[in-house]
Amino acid sequence: MSQWTIRDFRLEDSDQLVEVWQESLADQPNPVYGLAEILDSCSNGVSAVAVAEGRVIGAAACQVQEDRAWVVLLAQAAGWRNRGLGSALLAAVEAKLAREGIKKISALLPASETRVTALRNSGYQVEGDLHYFEKTLPIQPKDLDTLTHLGGRRLPRGLWDSLAGMHYEKDLIDQRLILPLSRTELAESLGVRPPRSVILFGPPGTGKTTFAKSIASRLDWPFIEVFPSRLESHPEGLAGALRQVFSEIRELDHAVVFIDEVEEIASARTGSGYSPLQGVTNELLKIIPAFREQEGRILICATNFIRSLDKAFLRHGRFDYVIPIGPPDHGARRSIWNRYIPEEFSESIDLEALAEASERFSPADIEFAARRASQQALERAVEDSRGESAVDDAKLDTAAYRQAIGQTRVTITGAMIEEFAEDIDTIARV
Ligand SMILES: Nc1ncnc2c1ncn2[C@@H]1O[C@H](COP(=O)(O)OP(=O)(O)O)[C@@H](O)[C@H]1O
Ligand SMILES: [Mg+2]
Repeated sequence: MSQWTIRDFRLEDSDQLVEVWQESLADQPNPVYGLAEILDSCSNGVSAVAVAEGRVIGAAACQVQEDRAWVVLLAQAAGWRNRGLGSALLAAVEAKLAREGIKKISALLPASETRVTALRNSGYQVEGDLHYFEKTLPIQPKDLDTLTHLGGRRLPRGLWDSLAGMHYEKDLIDQRLILPLSRTELAESLGVRPPRSVILFGPPGTGKTTFAKSIASRLDWPFIEVFPSRLESHPEGLAGALRQVFSEIRELDHAVVFIDEVEEIASARTGSGYSPLQGVTNELLKIIPAFREQEGRILICATNFIRSLDKAFLRHGRFDYVIPIGPPDHGARRSIWNRYIPEEFSESIDLEALAEASERFSPADIEFAARRASQQALERAVEDSRGESAVDDAKLDTAAYRQAIGQTRVTITGAMIEEFAEDIDTIARV
């Protein structure tokens, strides 16, 4: 004789059902489904509740997707376990599912779940070879419109890996930024406050923009570049437009916000005369503290002229870190060279030697030298063949590239390197 009755779920059961569900969490703290999904399945899916002495003592609920149902809830009140209640609830929902023509019923349980008797007794088989994967999508559907409006986008995976060399910078960014932002709970339990705003600085072409994008790619957060001096018109001018942009960014769950060449709007006030961008500078100074209060986001500013920035910008509390990004190192140069050498010749060319010979070259300098070598090879091939088909004579070798290196002026001068070293001493904060 059963001591309970099983009937359809009613809206007024919700409170008691939540209590039963919470009780069931005591010994199973990692539920696959959250309360909202459970209540939704009770009302809109296929469900059944068990009632005894006027109280809800158990419930089962499924979500139906095409011809398959997923068990979202199977819970019993504490005093009602091991009495066949779970199996009875499953039988009730199975009967309803069968009437709807559902052929398969699946259930996902956390590995820690030990209370599986009802499922086993009801003929469910454990699929031992399956792994349960879960991911919360970083871009929620509700964010899509805002993102599109802001020109934000999700960047491809793997950008980080395409940044060659630069081990010092990569390790630093990995430890100070990626780690606390991706392992928030662990970080916070140890008293680490996740960074909310950082500056990347260094000579031109050192990879600052690429690093900013790679950070978004690693975190899998949308990337939004803001151009403060180029914002569209707004009744309150550029400052108003900037405020508007950041208030839209507030709506997003996650964002990497990037301001490149921040010195354009944040240079030290000269004292003489009024700069049209002063209002924007002041606005950004006000925006940063508010931005820092929200989780799930980071502001990255980049500059080639860190020493020209307004002191108010660099004061503690506005940026967590001021990170130097040095000129491309050997590994970075090697990879940049490789990008511009036609595949046909890449085997025979000594990349190590080119990387060695192009110290202080920026990526743009390497591209320039590589293109020059290609152009000269073309001219030579045509000249040597005297009008015949030139293909057989076409040749690009290490010497040709070396020659082009010798003919290229470096962008990153000795003076720049000295200034960069001074800035690291006096301004960097890592
Ligand atoms: N470490 C690196 N490995 C591969 N390519 C790099 C590296 N650093 C820079 N580059 C390339 O050099 C170019 C300039 O880099 P960028 O990030 O725009 O520099 P910055 O923003 O510091 O001026 C880009 O095409 C980028 O892909
Ligand atoms: Mg850049």
